[in-house]
Order: sequence, then C-alpha cells, then structure tokens
Amino acid sequence: MARPSTVFVCSACGGHTPKWQGQCPACGQWNVLERREAPRPRPSPAAGALEPAAPVSLESAPEPARCPSGQEELDRVLGGGIVPGSVTLLGGDPGIGKSTLLLQVAAQVAGAGRSVLYASGEESASQVALRARRLGLAASTLEMLPETHLQAVLARCAERRAALLVIDSIQTVRSGEMEASAGAVSQLRECTAQLVRFAKSTGTAVILIGHVTKDGAIAGPRVLEHLVDTVLYFESEAGSRFRIVRATKNRFGAVNELAFFAMTGTGLKEVRNPSAIFLARAAQPAAGSIVTVTREGGRPLLIELQALVDRMRFGAPRRIAQGLDANRLAMLLAVLSRHGAVSLQEHDVFVNAVGGVRIEETGWDLPVVIALASSLSDRPVPDSLVSFGEVGLTGEVRPVAYGQERLQEAAKQGFRLAVVPRENAPRQPIEGMGVIAVSRVIDALSAVFSDSPPPSRAGAAPPPPRSAPARS
Ligand code: TYD
Ligand code: MG
Repeated sequence: MARPSTVFVCSACGGHTPKWQGQCPACGQWNVLERREAPRPRPSPAAGALEPAAPVSLESAPEPARCPSGQEELDRVLGGGIVPGSVTLLGGDPGIGKSTLLLQVAAQVAGAGRSVLYASGEESASQVALRARRLGLAASTLEMLPETHLQAVLARCAERRAALLVIDSIQTVRSGEMEASAGAVSQLRECTAQLVRFAKSTGTAVILIGHVTKDGAIAGPRVLEHLVDTVLYFESEAGSRFRIVRATKNRFGAVNELAFFAMTGTGLKEVRNPSAIFLARAAQPAAGSIVTVTREGGRPLLIELQALVDRMRFGAPRRIAQGLDANRLAMLLAVLSRHGAVSLQEHDVFVNAVGGVRIEETGWDLPVVIALASSLSDRPVPDSLVSFGEVGLTGEVRPVAYGQERLQEAAKQGFRLAVVPRENAPRQPIEGMGVIAVSRVIDALSAVFSDSPPPSRAGAAPPPPRSAPARS
C-alpha cells in the first residue's frame, strides 16, 4: 500500500493521525491538528555496513568516580554521590523546594572546582541570583543559563564540558526538532531522551526537575521514569517544614532510601537524626500513642503512631489512616475483634503516622493494634515502650526483617521495653532493653495492659461499653 504523503500532527501533544479530525485522538484537545508532509522512512543500513560495537568485559569496565553533592543525606539516596553520565529526575509538588535543593547542590559541586550549568526556564537569572545570595551560596563559579531551548542548552554545556547540568524544569524546555509545545508528553519524552543521549556520550551528570501536576494538562514526571537512571521524589506533609526525598528507582543504589531535610530561612538543611522529628512527644504518656521502629529507607527509624477511637456518631463507622494503608487498618480491626477481644464496630477509628511520613512495610501492625486498644480503654502505653511486628489474619504475630537492628536503634534512643514477635526476640540480650516476645495479638495486649488499671473517670461521661483486652 502506498504511504500517505501527508499526516496531521497535534500542536499540543505531537501525536500523529493520518486523517484530519476536529479533536486530537491522542490528547483529546480540539482544533490542534495541522497538516504536515509525512516523514520519509529512513533506509535501513545494509547488513555489514554497520560497525558492530566491541564487547566490554564487565571486570575491566571502570567504576565511575562519584561526585559528592555536598549533602550527605542526598548522596546516600543517590547510592553514594552523583554518578557521571547519569540522569536523575527530581519530582515533587510545586513550591516544595526542588529548585532550592538543586541550587544548593549546584553551588557545592561548582565550589569543588567542577563546571556546573544551571539551566532555568522557570526563573530569570536575577531571581536565581537573588535566591543564591539569600541562601549564602558562594556561587561565583556557578553558571546560570536562562534558556528553554534544549539544543542551545546542550551546546553551551558541551562547550563548558560541564560535570553537572541542572534543568529547572523539564516541563519548560523544548526541542527545536518538535512541534509540540513545552510540557506536552511528546516534548517531555523527546527532550529527556536527548538529555539521556547527551549524558551518556559526554559523561555530564544531568538532574531534571519535574513538577508533579494534579490535572493532566501538563504531563507529570511519571511519563519519564523509564527513561532516566534515578527517580527521586520530594515529599512533605502540608504545612510541615520537614521534607523527605525518596528514591523510587535507582540504577546506582538501593531504592526506597530516604533523605530528611528541614526547610529553613536559609535553604534546606539536612536532618541527621530523623528519629528526633517523629518522636517529639507529649511530656505525659497519652492513651493511643505508641512508638514503632520501622525500616524505611534502608535504616531503622523511630516513629510515633497515634490511634483515636471514638464512639460513632452517625451512619457507617469511619476508618481514616494517615501515612498508613487504610485497607490494612480495616483488616487489623477485624483481627482485633475476632482474636483480640476488642470490638470497634461501633466506633470511628483514626490512625496517624506522626511527622508526615508514609510507612510502606507491615511492621506497624502490632503497634497500631496496641494503640487502638490503648485509645479504646483510655490507658496509656508506657512511654519507654516500642513495638513492631506484622499481624496475620488468624491473630498471630509474625516476624519482620531486621529485628535486631530495630531493637538496637530503639535502645540507642533510650527505649527500655519492646513488644516484638517471638521470632524477632534477640539471641543475645540488648543492654538496657527488656523484650516481651509474643506470638499472638491477645498475648501482646495482655502483656502491655496487664498492670495499668483503667483511670477513674470522675466527672467524665461513662466510658463506652467495651470488651477489655484479656488480662493475664
Ligand atoms: P522552591 O525551591 O522554589 O520550590 P520548587 O522549585 O519545588 O517549586 O521553594 C519554594 C519554597 O521554599 C517557598 O515557598 C519558600 C521556601 N523557601 C524557604 O523557606 N527558605 C529558603 O531559603 C528558600 C530559598 C525557599
Ligand atoms: Mg522551582
């Protein structure tokens, strides 16, 4: 069949269609298709005309020397520093601090005598300079490029033999080879692919900023994840000054590593002891609060978990989980009812991981179960107690990975008693730490609540009917 001589190209997303239509079939926008000459297929080179690439022995391939970013926390997330020739995507909500962090990194790398280009299509040179001054950065060697044309940026970068190129943001650059407007999916993909080719061929490390957008009008960084080597996401709880950088993909290190920062008046500062953030607890132990040791980001982390159980007012009972999986919470409530003799069917239930952190692993099961029972019975858990462990559907407490490491971290932070799964009980005693090893939920509840009588509630409304945790 003869190839059509014209195609219709969408000016918004760059999608192709052979016939004219009112609406682009790729992105759904109206009146954006323009007639173009169809590209001619390139003749494929005859076999034999290609020079095959020489195979390289993996043992002789050199280990690239990583370049420190000046922020130890960020280096750890990257797997030990910035790898030359790598492409990293830093995604996050607008205004969370992406430009601030990368300006600090760029200044540090430039300060160490390397050539760095900071290409910004978001802000003018004077705005970036103002911020650099406010951050107290010695930016004399840092070069800023207010440019959105990708080929111009790459040409400048090749001329300077830059060790690091920061693109702020990928949604503002456009390649001259494409029709689509900046920020369109096809433009994002093409620019990123060109940047990847550039990075691999020159050894320049490239960091891309990508805004996470709520609506689909501008494509988010997700469409680029498969193209780049490393994907970092900037997270924070609304209103919190703490920021977490999480690696969700890393060709040069472990994923799910976390870096903690605090946003201050003079930029982002590393938080070396992140447990301290999540453990700012009330002076008096409060019912419904417990500390767990999770292992997020390749290291143990102490986090306060809170549960609130309140008598249901109307309709169906509410189950709200912040930072924890709501489906898992529903499962734990069923286990509590069947195997823990604690029924919460008539109650609204709220649980929260303090500090805006999100816990992905299952070690929070047991502490949340204890916190729920604590809130229901209004009996505080001792504030020197920590707990971790997975809970199964039959009411059994299952072990989690790195039990020993978690217990040691808790002991280091001054905790004196741990309620843990039987299989996680340490072989050698840990100094200063008593361990209660349990194999069933009911055992854990009776161990924690056996010797604290419910407080007398003089003057308060009578407590809701409850089935108290069994006492031993
Ligand atoms: P920014 O890096 O511009 O965010 P992004 O590039 O992700 O859109 O950060 C903007 C926010 O950070 C802004 O609300 C102000 C705050 N901020 C500080 O609190 N202290 C500082 O020193 C700087 C530079 C910014
Ligand atoms: Mg910015």
